Amino acid sequence: MAVLLSTKAAAIAEWEAALSALDPTLVLHRHPFAGDPAEIEAVVMWTGHDPADLRRYPNLRLIVSMGAGVDHLLAPPGPPPGVPVARLVDARLTQAMSEWVLLNVLRFHRQDPDYRAQQAGRIWRELPAPDTARRRIGILGLGALGADAAGKLAALGFPVAGWSRRPKSLPGIACHHGPDGFEAVLRQADILVCLLPLTPATRGILDARAFALLPRGAFLLNAARGGHVAQGDLLPALESGQIAGAALDVTEPEPLPPDSPLWTHPKVVLTPHAASVTIPASVAPQVIENIRRARAGEPILNRVDPAAGY
Ligand code: GLV
Repeated sequence: MAVLLSTKAAAIAEWEAALSALDPTLVLHRHPFAGDPAEIEAVVMWTGHDPADLRRYPNLRLIVSMGAGVDHLLAPPGPPPGVPVARLVDARLTQAMSEWVLLNVLRFHRQDPDYRAQQAGRIWRELPAPDTARRRIGILGLGALGADAAGKLAALGFPVAGWSRRPKSLPGIACHHGPDGFEAVLRQADILVCLLPLTPATRGILDARAFALLPRGAFLLNAARGGHVAQGDLLPALESGQIAGAALDVTEPEPLPPDSPLWTHPKVVLTPHAASVTIPASVAPQVIENIRRARAGEPILNRVDPAAGY
């Protein structure tokens, strides 16, 4: 029995090395696989692999996303019914995401875009001192990533409110859920951070209506998926000043097309889906453990509920 690996050409050798180092007996194949489909018992995959391909393997007993997100493999037609799907929850992924969030919250909180513009004009002028205790942060998504970022922001002294689909309770964070909770978080978010999973319920959740709920001049950070932002609604919100700045690690489509106005927009900071990148050696133990569990018929770690979409 074998494991099929599917990711960018640049990353595949690192995945092979990380998994083989822990279990040299593991038989690894690269996608696309020309051998007997009955050989494949687990697929470990990233974007660019059509989920329809998963139906080719009659003995498949585990599907693993190479990232925290699973939207790529739940896309129609989705995984074969009954085959467990796992996502990654990993200390290094979480740490990297929180660093990106802190970097960009502090960038806007400390008026860095304004100071850079002043520097370009050789202007030596101090701006009004920002007040951490009054800069309200809203975090959409309180899973492993959102909860960690929320805690680190709260530790810096920011008032933090968070929103999740299901009720949550996190120390020092005002936790909200449901449609009313969504509005409550947006209405007081001077800086809004999106770390939601992309599901049919969250696609386009950041649209003109949501932007209008934010305090005027709010900042937006999106390191979740480009599909959370309603295409066409962000630029008008930036132009009108409703949103004063945006840090985007994700866009739709990716890569961002060369003619997108976001590339040169003075209020937009872009990173190329690089906020938090999976380190194969860091996640290999949980992948190997899940393969063992799938073989033994034991409960899978970080199992995804395909109906919920995360
Ligand atoms: C990155 O986008 C991930 O899902 O881990």
